Formats: sequence, structure tokens, C-alpha cells
Amino acid sequence: HYGDVTDSLMIINLIRKVKPNEIYNLSAQSHVAVSFQIPEYTANVDALGCLRILEAIKSLNLTKKIKFYQAGTSEMFGKVQEVPQTEKTPFYPRSPYGVAKVYGYWITINYRESYDIFACNGILFNHESPLRGLEFVTRKITDGVARIKLGIQNELLLGNLEAKRDWGFAGDFVHAMWLMLQTDKPDDYVIATGEQHSVRDFCEIAFGTVGLNLEDYVGVDPRFYRPAEVETLLGDPGKAKTELGWEPQVTFEQLVTMMVEEDIKRIEREIKLES
Ligand code: GDD
Repeated sequence: HYGDVTDSLMIINLIRKVKPNEIYNLSAQSHVAVSFQIPEYTANVDALGCLRILEAIKSLNLTKKIKFYQAGTSEMFGKVQEVPQTEKTPFYPRSPYGVAKVYGYWITINYRESYDIFACNGILFNHESPLRGLEFVTRKITDGVARIKLGIQNELLLGNLEAKRDWGFAGDFVHAMWLMLQTDKPDDYVIATGEQHSVRDFCEIAFGTVGLNLEDYVGVDPRFYRPAEVETLLGDPGKAKTELGWEPQVTFEQLVTMMVEEDIKRIEREIKLES
């Protein structure tokens, strides 16, 4: 089905047609840096998109039939008010993206409390895989490392190398989303690894896996700085562990290695096709 969460009628018609048991709202303008350039569009999709789906569930009288998952984000913690961040940590978003997601978070709770919808917020920290878009720092690094290793690129320009993130494997995190909708009572959960690394650490391991040294290739370009930066994020997944029995399976080193290896294989295939 084609769709767009800026189109209320389409959402209503689609839900009426598909009659889903579960809806996972992963729709978003999810690029933090881009949200400074298109703030209104970001709010329309990320904040009002969530409202439109909830309102469709309510107006179709399906509040007892459909379980709803809202993709919250650690970007809502922004300028962090405590370390590590839990479900109780106050939000302080630092981008139009983060601000829009805070709206999505609260409207989900409001519809849960007002209309008894089974609606959960997952507050997911950064989650990566070989499928990650090249605009995000992890994939930009692993793609760059692969190209440098294969001799088709000679430098990698990045922004803030000191930013720290709690990076996990997307496959593990998607499992947590599903677990949230299999419980008896809707609730909100932080999904994170509880481990933190800097962009520089990510580079070090990525270059290390192919026997190269990051200092020889990485440069800083202020074009990739953001008007307001989230310097550090570290989640406490304790509640998800206790209540959902969830724990990440893939370590940081395994994640970085997996992404570099997949990029090398993909680029080798592309080179072969071209020759
Ligand atoms: N994209 C990018 N490109 N980021 C860079 C670069 C660069 O060249 N150099 C340094 N960084 C820094 C950013 O400034 C940021 O601090 C960090 O690397 C991570 O940036 P991204 O990979 O773009 O992800 P994000 O943390 O801003 O947001 C992602 O994770 C959120 C969950 O916390 C996105 O997936 C969001 O949609 C998601 O909500």
C-alpha cells in the first residue's frame, strides 16, 4: 500500500481496509541535521503524523482492537538532564526533530489515558545495521572505510568526532518493539545497550577491522556540525530487561565489524558489475 502520514483520509481508509492488529509508527523525517532545514515539514510528519494515526484508530472505533507502537527516540533527552537516561529522565530536545518527537510521545500517552488505546512509546537509542542510510554517521563511516580499503576513496570528512552515542543493533531493537505490544498493559520503555562510545571510537574500530589507522584518513569539516548538538546519550535499559525480558545480543564491536564487512562485499560486487 502507498501512504503518507500527512494525509488523514488515506490513513483512515488504509486502516479500514487492512484491519491491522498492530500498528508500528516508524514514519518520520528522521534526519536530525535536516530537521533544522525543514522544521515545519518535520513537525507535520513526526508530530502530527502520530496524532493522525491515533485519531484514525479512535474515530474508527478500533481502540480495543488495534495495538499502537510509537517510535520515540533518545533525541528527546537531547541536553541530558541525568546520566544514564531512564523512562523518568526529563526531556530537553535539541532539534526540531527532537521537539516533534516529544509531541508524538505525549500525544500517545494522552490517547492511551483518554481513550484506553493500547499504545506504547519505545524510547529507542541509536540503532544501526548494514541497511542504515548513508546520511547517518555509522554507515557513512563504514562505507567510507570500505571505499578507502578498496582504493576508491582517500579521505573521510566528518563533523563532531567527540559526540557520544549508545549504539545498538537494529535487529535487537525491533524485537524490543514487538515485545512491547505483546504485554498485558501498555507502557513506555527505554531501549538501549547501556554502553557508550564516541564517533571517534566508532571510526577507530571500523578502520581497525581492515588494518588501517583513522588518523591517516579522517578529517573534520564544520559543514557537518549542527546548530545545536546532542553531545552525549547513554540509556538504562533496566526496565525493558525486567519487564520484557529483553537484552541486546549484538555487541558494539560485532556491529561495527558486521557493517564494515557488508559494505566491503557490496562495493566489491559493484566494482565487479562495472568491470
Ligand atoms: N550524520 C552525521 N554525519 N553525523 C555526524 C557526522 C557526519 O558526518 N560527523 C559527526 N556526526 C555526529 C552527529 O553530530 C551526532 O552527534 C552523531 O554523529 C550521530 O549522528 P547521526 O548518525 O546522524 O544520528 P543521530 O544521533 O543524530 O540520530 C539518529 O539516532 C536517533 C536516536 O537517538 C537518527 O536515527 C534519529 O532518527 C534517531 O531518533
